[in-house]
Amino acid sequence: MRGAIAPGLLLALAAALAGQNPQPQYVGSTACRSCHSGIYDRWKKTRMANVVRDPKEHPDAILPDLSKPDPLVTFTKGEIAFVYGSKWKQRYFKRIGDDYYPLAAQWDATHQIWRAYAVRDGTDWWTKFYPGDNFKRPTGALCDGCHSVNYDIETKSVTEWNVGCEKCHGPGSEHARKPARSNIVNPARLGYVRANDICIQCHSQGRPVEIPIRGKYYDWPVGFRAGLDLKDFWRLEEHRPGETTFTHFADGTAHKNRMQGNDFVQSLMYTRGVTCFSCHDVHGTANDADLLKPASVMCLECHGPDSPNGPHTASIEQHTHHAGGSAGSECVACHMPKIEPTIADVSVRSHTFRFVAPSLTESSKIPNACNVCHADKSPDWAAGELRKWPERSPWRVAN
Ligand code: HEC
Ligand code: HEC
Ligand code: HEC
Ligand code: HEC
Ligand code: HEC
Ligand code: HEC
Ligand code: HEC
Ligand code: HEC
Repeated sequence: MRGAIAPGLLLALAAALAGQNPQPQYVGSTACRSCHSGIYDRWKKTRMANVVRDPKEHPDAILPDLSKPDPLVTFTKGEIAFVYGSKWKQRYFKRIGDDYYPLAAQWDATHQIWRAYAVRDGTDWWTKFYPGDNFKRPTGALCDGCHSVNYDIETKSVTEWNVGCEKCHGPGSEHARKPARSNIVNPARLGYVRANDICIQCHSQGRPVEIPIRGKYYDWPVGFRAGLDLKDFWRLEEHRPGETTFTHFADGTAHKNRMQGNDFVQSLMYTRGVTCFSCHDVHGTANDADLLKPASVMCLECHGPDSPNGPHTASIEQHTHHAGGSAGSECVACHMPKIEPTIADVSVRSHTFRFVAPSLTESSKIPNACNVCHADKSPDWAAGELRKWPERSPWRVAN
C-alpha cells in the first residue's frame, strides 16, 4: 500500500474539487477558547471536563489517602495512570501495553471507604466475551469512548480525554478557521431526538448495532458523532416488562446509574420537546448537577397551578399533600426518587419522572418515593394515604 493515497484524503480532494468544504477534523477544546472564553472557563470546572485525570499532572485528583494501608488496595500510587470520577465513586487504571485496565479497588466517596472493583460475570452484556479478570478487560473497548473525544479504535488514541466541546458539537476545524453557524453542530437547533441523542450516546446502557466490530466487543456507540442518528450506531438495552434485570426494574425504570437516557425517553416531557439541556447547562453552573436553576425553582419554570403542563390543582400543597417548602413537597422527591444504585447503597435519581405506585413495590420490588422517605412505614400505608388524596386516581396510584 506504500505510495497509495489514503481514502480520506481522496474524499477531501474530491470535495475540494466539487467546491465543498473539506471534511472537518477534531481540533480539541483549547481551539475554542480564544473566541468562546466565557463558556470555556465555565466548562473547564465541570465534572464532565474532569472525569479522567492523570495523577502525575493533578496529584490532588486522587481522593483517598493512599498512604493509609487497606487490604483491598493492592496497588501503588505509581501504578495509577488515570483516575476516573469523583462524585460518588472513583476508579483507578493502570497502563499495560497500548491500553488501560481497571485496578481492583474503588473509592466510595459517600461512605469514604474502599470497596472491591470488578464487573461481575452475567451483569453487563459484554462480560461473556471477556474473561473475568480486570486485566483482561481493556478500557479502550469498554469505557473510553464515553470518557474522551474522538477515540480511534485503530490507533487507540484520542483528540482529548474528558467530555470536550466537540463531543457535543462535532469536529470543529472548519468552524474555528471560518466561524459560522453552518459549520458547527448546535444541539439547540436539532430536533428533539437528535438533540437528546447527543447526551444519550454516553448517558445510557446499550450496545452497538454491529457486534462485534472488527472482532472486538465495544460497550459504546463506535462511529457516532453529534448530529448523526444514534439509532444507526446504538441500541438502548432491552427491557422485558415484568422482569427485574441488571439494567431495569420490572416497570422499565433504570436499575443502575448512567441510564438517564433510557429513563428520559419514556417521559411525556421527552415527546413534548423538553431536552436534557432544558434542565442542565453542561457548560457549568453553580448548582448541583449543573442544573440551570436549583431543582425546587427549575420545575416551577414550566409547572405550577396555572400552567397547562400541570399539576392541575389550585395550589402546589394541594398536589403534594406536604407543607410548602418542606422536603416532601419538592417535585424531585416524588418524581425523581433516588432509587438507581451507583455504588453499594448510594443511588441516583430516576429520570422517567414517573410516580411509582406503592403497590409496585410489593408486586415488583421497585422502590416507591413515599417509602424512600417514610422508610419506617409500609407500601400499604402509603397506598392507604394516597387513597385519601381526592384529586388522584386510585386506579393509578393506590390500587
Ligand atoms: C475564531 C473564533 C471562533 C473559534 C475559534 C470558535 N468559534 Fe464558535 N463561534 C464563533 C462565532 C463568531 C460564532 C457565531 C457565528 C454566527 O452567529 O454566525 C460561533 C458560534 C458557535 C456556536 C453556535 C452555533 C449556532 O448555531 O448558533 C457553537 C456551538 C460554537 N461556536 C462552538 C464552537 C466550538 C466547539 C469551537 C471549537 C472547536 C469553536 N466554536 C471555535 C467564533 C469562533
Ligand atoms: C456535554 C455537551 C456539551 C459540551 C461538552 C459543550 N457544549 Fe456547547 N452546547 C451544548 C448544548 C446542549 C448547547 C445548546 C444549549 C443551549 O444553548 O441552551 C450548547 C450551546 C453552545 C453554544 C451556543 C450557545 C451559546 O451559549 O452561545 C456555544 C457557542 C457553545 N455551546 C460552545 C461550546 C464550547 C466552546 C465548549 C467547550 C469549551 C462547549 N460548548 C462544550 C452542549 C455542550
Ligand atoms: C462523552 C460522553 C458524555 C456526553 C456526550 C455527555 N456526558 Fe454528561 N457525563 C459524562 C461523564 C463521564 C460524567 C461523569 C463526570 C464525573 O462524575 O466525574 C457526566 C456527568 C454529567 C452530569 C453530572 C454532573 C455533576 O456535576 O453531577 C450531568 C448533569 C450530565 N453529565 C449531563 C449531560 C447532558 C445534559 C449531556 C448532553 C448535552 C451530556 N451530559 C453529554 C459523559 C458524557
Ligand atoms: C456508554 C458510555 C459509558 C461507558 C461505556 C462507560 N462510562 Fe463511565 N460514565 C459514563 C457517564 C455518562 C457517566 C456519568 C453518569 C454516572 O456516573 O452514572 C460516567 C461516570 C463514570 C464514573 C464516575 C462516577 C462518579 O461518581 O463520579 C466512573 C468511575 C466511570 N464512569 C467508570 C467507568 C468505567 C471503569 C467504565 C468501563 C468499564 C465506564 N465508566 C464505561 C459513561 C460511560
Ligand atoms: C426536567 C428536568 C430534567 C431533565 C429533562 C433531565 N434532568 Fe438530569 N437531573 C435533573 C434534576 C432535578 C437532577 C437532580 C439534581 C440533584 O439531586 O441535585 C438531575 C440529575 C442528573 C444527573 C446527576 C445524577 C443524579 O441523579 O444526581 C445526571 C448525570 C443527569 N441528571 C443527566 C441527565 C441527562 C443525560 C438527561 C437527558 C437524557 C437529563 N438529565 C434530563 C433534572 C433533569
Ligand atoms: C422546559 C419546561 C419544563 C421543565 C423545566 C420541566 N417540565 Fe415537566 N413537563 C413539561 C411539559 C411540556 C410537560 C408535558 C405536559 C403535557 O403535555 O401535559 C411536562 C410533564 C411533566 C410530568 C407529567 C409526565 C407524565 O408522564 O405524566 C411530570 C411528572 C413532570 N413534567 C415533572 C417535572 C419535574 C419534576 C421537573 C423539574 C425537575 C419538570 N417537570 C421540569 C415541561 C417542563
Ligand atoms: C408527595 C408526592 C408528590 C410531589 C412532592 C409532587 N408530585 Fe406530582 N404527582 C404525584 C402523584 C401521586 C401524581 C399522579 C401520578 C399518576 O397519576 O400516575 C402526580 C402527577 C403529576 C403530574 C401529572 C399531571 C397531574 O396533575 O396528574 C405533574 C405534571 C406533576 N405531578 C408535577 C409535579 C410538580 C411540578 C411537582 C413539584 C411542584 C410535583 N409534581 C410534586 C405526587 C407528587
Ligand atoms: C422527600 C421525602 C418525602 C417523600 C418522598 C414523601 N414524604 Fe411524606 N413526609 C415527609 C416529611 C419530612 C413529613 C413531615 C413534615 C411534613 O408534613 O412535611 C411527611 C409527612 C407525611 C404525612 C403526615 C405525617 C405522617 O407521617 O403521618 C403523610 C401522611 C405523608 N407524609 C405521606 C406521604 C406519601 C403518601 C408520600 C408519597 C406519595 C410521601 N409522604 C412522600 C417526607 C416525605
